[in-house]
Amino acid sequence: VTPAASLSPEPSPIEVRHALGSYPVYVEPGVLGRFPELVARHVPGRRLALLTDTNVRPLPTRWGVPLPAVEAELAIPAGEASKTRERWSELSDALLARRLGRDTALVLLGGGVVGDLGGFVAATYLRGIPYVQVPTTLLAMLDASVGGKTAVDTPHGKNLIGAFHPPAAVIVDPRVLATLPEREFRSGLAEAVKHGLIADRAYFDWIVASAAAIGARDPDTLAQLVRRSVEIKAAVVSEDERETGRRAILNAGHTIAHALEQASGYALAHGEAVAIGLVTECRLAESLGLAEPGIAAAVAGLLERLGLPTALPGFSPDRLLEAMAADKKNRGARIRFALPVSIGAMAPGEGWTVAVLEPAIEDILHP
Ligand SMILES: NC(=O)c1ccc[n+]([C@@H]2O[C@H](COP(=O)([O-])OP(=O)(O)OC[C@H]3O[C@@H](n4cnc5c(N)ncnc54)[C@H](O)[C@@H]3O)[C@@H](O)[C@H]2O)c1
Ligand SMILES: [Zn+2]
Repeated sequence: VTPAASLSPEPSPIEVRHALGSYPVYVEPGVLGRFPELVARHVPGRRLALLTDTNVRPLPTRWGVPLPAVEAELAIPAGEASKTRERWSELSDALLARRLGRDTALVLLGGGVVGDLGGFVAATYLRGIPYVQVPTTLLAMLDASVGGKTAVDTPHGKNLIGAFHPPAAVIVDPRVLATLPEREFRSGLAEAVKHGLIADRAYFDWIVASAAAIGARDPDTLAQLVRRSVEIKAAVVSEDERETGRRAILNAGHTIAHALEQASGYALAHGEAVAIGLVTECRLAESLGLAEPGIAAAVAGLLERLGLPTALPGFSPDRLLEAMAADKKNRGARIRFALPVSIGAMAPGEGWTVAVLEPAIEDILHP
C-alpha cells in the first residue's frame, strides 16, 4: 500500500496579499496536471474563456497538460505588438458576441503580453470579471504575476492605459519553461538577480550556487527560484500599500535599462537591458560612495554566468541621458535611481530613490 503522503501531494501555494484581495500562487513542477481542477476551485461555477497567443496555443499538447473545458477560445498574435487598445476591443467584442455574461472567468495562458492584455480585458469586461493566470515565460512567472497590474501600450508609451485587477489565482508550472526560447529564458533571469540584489543576499548567493541547474532548467530549481522571487516581489508590493514608497526598489537597474531599450530601438530584450542596467547602476552607487566596493563586479559575475550581457553598448552618454530625462519617474534636473548599498539592501534615499546630478551619471555611461 502506498502511503497517502507519497501520492501527488496537495501543492501549498504562496499567498500574495493585495489591497484589492489576496490570491494564491501555486508553484510546483507538474501542477498543471491539475489545471482544470485548480481553475474550477478558484473560479467555481463559472463559464470559461481561454486566452493564449499563437505560439502558446499548440504547446499544452507538447507539455502533456490538460486544458479546462471552455466556452470560448481566443488567441492573439504572439508579441508585444498585440498589447493594444485595438486587441483589447476585439477580444471584448468576441466575448460579447458569444453572449458571455458576468458569470464568466478568463483563463490567461501565456507570457506577460497575454497576462497584461487579458488582465485588462478582465478588469473592464462588464465592469470586471475574475481571471486565473497561468504564466508560461520566466518573466511572467516571477515578475508579471505579482502586483495586479494590467495594461496595454499606446503610441505615447508602454503600459499607459490599464487597471489594477489582481487574478483569482496564479498557477506556475516550471516544466512549461522547457519550450521557451533560450533568449526569453535568460531575459527572465535578470529580474531574479534584481530580486536578490534589492532584498535578499542569501537568495543572491543561492542563485550563484545554483547557476548550472538554473541554466539546465531543472524544474525543481526553477520552482525554488520562482517561489523566492514571488515572495520578494509580493513583500515589497504589500509594504508599499502602507505608503512607504518601497515599491520603487523594484526599479533597480530599470532607469538605465529603459534608456538602453529605447536607444537600441528595442533590439535589446528587456532582461538584457536590465542586466546591463543593474551593473551600471551598481557602478554608479559605488562611484557616489553609497555602495560597498565590488558590488558591481559581483553582480556582473553572476549575470555573466547566467548568459546575460553586462557591458554598456556603444551609445553616446548624451543619448542615454536624454532618454532618462524623459522618463516619467524623474523630477527636476537630477535623475532619480533606486540604488543598492550592499547585496540585499537598498539605499533609503528619499522614497527609496536617490537624485543624482547629470555629470555624475555621464561619468559612468562611457562604454
Ligand atoms: N504586469 C506586470 O507587473 C508586468 C511585469 C513585468 C512585465 N510585464 C509585461 O510583460 C510583457 C513581456 O512578457 P514576456 O516576456 O512574457 O513576453 P511575451 O508574452 O511576448 O512572451 C515572449 C514570447 O515567448 C512565447 N512563449 C510564451 N511562453 C512560452 C513557452 N512556455 N514556450 C515557448 N514559447 C513561449 C510567446 O509566444 C512570445 O513569443 C511586457 O509587455 C511587459 O510590459 C508586466
Ligand atoms: Zn523589468
